[in-house]
Amino acid sequence: MRYFGSKVTANEVIYEIVKTHAGSGLVCDPFGGIGSVGTYLRSKGYNVWSGDLLTFAHYFQISKIKFPNEANFSTLFTKIGVNSLEGINSILNSVEPKNGWFVEEYSDRRGFFTRTNAMKIEACRELISGWTREGLLNADEKAMLLAGLISGMDNVANTAGTYYAYLKNWHRKALNPFRFNLVVPSARGGHGQCFHESADLLTARNRYNVLYLDPPYNERSYSRYYHLPETIAKCECPEVKGMSGIPVTGHVVSGYNSRASACESLYKMLSKAKFNTLLFHYTDNGLIKPKILIDILSEHGKMSTFTFDAKGYTTRTTATRTPHKIYVVQNV
Ligand SMILES: C[S@@+](CC[C@H](N)C(=O)[O-])C[C@H]1O[C@@H](n2cnc3c(N)ncnc32)[C@H](O)[C@@H]1O
Repeated sequence: MRYFGSKVTANEVIYEIVKTHAGSGLVCDPFGGIGSVGTYLRSKGYNVWSGDLLTFAHYFQISKIKFPNEANFSTLFTKIGVNSLEGINSILNSVEPKNGWFVEEYSDRRGFFTRTNAMKIEACRELISGWTREGLLNADEKAMLLAGLISGMDNVANTAGTYYAYLKNWHRKALNPFRFNLVVPSARGGHGQCFHESADLLTARNRYNVLYLDPPYNERSYSRYYHLPETIAKCECPEVKGMSGIPVTGHVVSGYNSRASACESLYKMLSKAKFNTLLFHYTDNGLIKPKILIDILSEHGKMSTFTFDAKGYTTRTTATRTPHKIYVVQNV
């Protein structure tokens, strides 16, 4: 799944900087998004604690970073008569399409999905909810199935990437058939833990060898841009409004999305954070101006900066190169 602000193209640079300061140990990625950086660092042997405020991002992190041993689907396997993850994939891919809330709101009223795909997504949603209600899934298994559903849904969404709007004409990818797509880890390495909580709490939970911070840097709220994955993750059918079909209530607010509160949010978080090395990933055009950022960060240790170009994911159609800046603060 593509994710706004994803640092997947910067993974190697981040790893090189992390390696310079800690050859092993515990890395914390509290603004982890869908887990691109945490997954990469875990594959390189680091133990990773990852977090995010959004439920669906947390579910991707569970699938990619935690690799829960508990997620052996044993109760479900017994009940539905399969014995492999492929078996679950194939049941969810052959489910009878259904009408319902999702089809009405995101296909009939708004052109996010073809009707055929929306009906398949609705059917998968209901099947996973039913398995949950019957007690056939533990929390990690439920998270993994919902991440798989969201990943498959995102592959056929008629959008430019986020759920802020749907496209006027059918995009090629939206005409492909929906496939449930279980998100599975690509490579093991260290251990992983995932937390559905604010960065304030996670950064203060432990002392980290490396604390990697990648907060939002502008006013675009992830909760609003990714409202539909979030609704699916919460297994809800809320009242929705407008062209985007965003839920009327229940948005997660982040202090980093507002010019008025971004500096204070960072200042407060760092006053309780415990780390040996801090990497702060930001851009000079962000809500916190470079001079203020340097003042805040340099209170916590010796600081250096790295600037590099990496292809960033934006909603524009032309590839853009975003100047990335990583501030490194050494606290020991
Ligand atoms: C720039 S994105 C991170 C992208 C991620 N590094 C990647 O490569 O996919 C910022 C993330 O921070 C999350 N977020 C915003 N405010 C937060 C907060 N106060 N605590 C935890 N997560 C937060 C957003 O939901 C979003 O997923």
